[in-house]
Amino acid sequence: MKVAIMGYGTIGSGVAEVLDTNKEALAERVGEPLELKYILDLRDFPGDPHEDCLVKEYQTIVNDDEVSLVVETMGGVEPAFTFVKAMLEAGKSVTTSNKALVADKGAELIAIAQQHNVNFIFEAAVGGGIPIIRVLRACLTGDVIEDMAGIVNGTTNYMLTKMEKEGCEYEDVLKEAQAKGYAEKDPTADVEGYDACRKIAILTSLVAGKQVNYEKIPTEGISKLTAVDFKYAKKLNRSIKLLATSKRVDDTYACRVAPYLLDESHTLFHVQDVFNAVYVRGNMLGDSMYYGAGAGKLPTASAVVADLVFLARNSKKYVPLEWKSAELELADSDKLEYRYFVRTKDSKSDVDKLFASAEYIDIDIDNEVGFVTAMMTEADFKSKSVMLNGIINYIRLA
Ligand code: HSE
Repeated sequence: MKVAIMGYGTIGSGVAEVLDTNKEALAERVGEPLELKYILDLRDFPGDPHEDCLVKEYQTIVNDDEVSLVVETMGGVEPAFTFVKAMLEAGKSVTTSNKALVADKGAELIAIAQQHNVNFIFEAAVGGGIPIIRVLRACLTGDVIEDMAGIVNGTTNYMLTKMEKEGCEYEDVLKEAQAKGYAEKDPTADVEGYDACRKIAILTSLVAGKQVNYEKIPTEGISKLTAVDFKYAKKLNRSIKLLATSKRVDDTYACRVAPYLLDESHTLFHVQDVFNAVYVRGNMLGDSMYYGAGAGKLPTASAVVADLVFLARNSKKYVPLEWKSAELELADSDKLEYRYFVRTKDSKSDVDKLFASAEYIDIDIDNEVGFVTAMMTEADFKSKSVMLNGIINYIRLA
């Protein structure tokens, strides 16, 4: 079977490497070789072992009936959407690692795939190499999913781990993450939680069977966290993690992306460095967790190639994927309840007037107080916290 890769960056070149390295095993699993025929990229790659495959026009792939499997690793919604749509309409199945494309156009592309009796799948779009999409679409279909919480961004988990272990400041750890190639030059999508937001939107769309509008998910990143927050976390015997959460409320889900303070009993407490993990609770299964390399060239490429094997085994046969275009009306996340850790410049008496059973945390810092509230709704917390004039930061407890 002939394969085309659109986008020869880190992941695309990883896919070519996996196809080369595991050539024989893949041929055995599929029943015939998976042969790379085209690589679409505007750049030149002189001396690359696959230089002969390079093309600059996506129509070259569209018009070649020999190619039945296409990998999209370009990133971004356009032109990826136009190219993927054209591939599906030409009767080719597509796998992508592009969460922006899947979060935005997932339902539409699945519907187009169905119309043309092919498949559009995206294991690598969430959790990199961790099988989580297939778990939700195939393995846990006997359950109603009640709760999901994921550490789904490797860059920020690396940064938070470093801040916790070494007591460094956010700016320093960001520079180091950039030097190591984890964080991008413009780190906004990772550090402001937008990447995690798209990923939990995809997971929620899958379990709900409807399109989640990721713009409606309240999203906070890690850029306001400081070394002092981690001192308080240590005193509380907790770890700060950026979680993407989705909780079943009535017949829908309430989602949020934000930093949380986790204690040791939390399933995700021990997930460190660039690793990802997704915790899923089903109403019959109970708790389960999926852990592994959530980013990086070969782990992500491994998930893309596993998708290629699936596509090759299901050639010219649409395999149902329950994700309709109708928008899922998300539950009001202001009604969710948490305990909140708060740092403020207000006095304890001001705090006590608003938060009756505040528990103070003393780490010997002048000119501020730190406290943990009782359990309260987000709406209640918002209405009380605006009455404090000196709030420095707050973090929910999980
Ligand atoms: N920037 C993402 C991360 C890449 O750090 O997890 C994988 O989606």
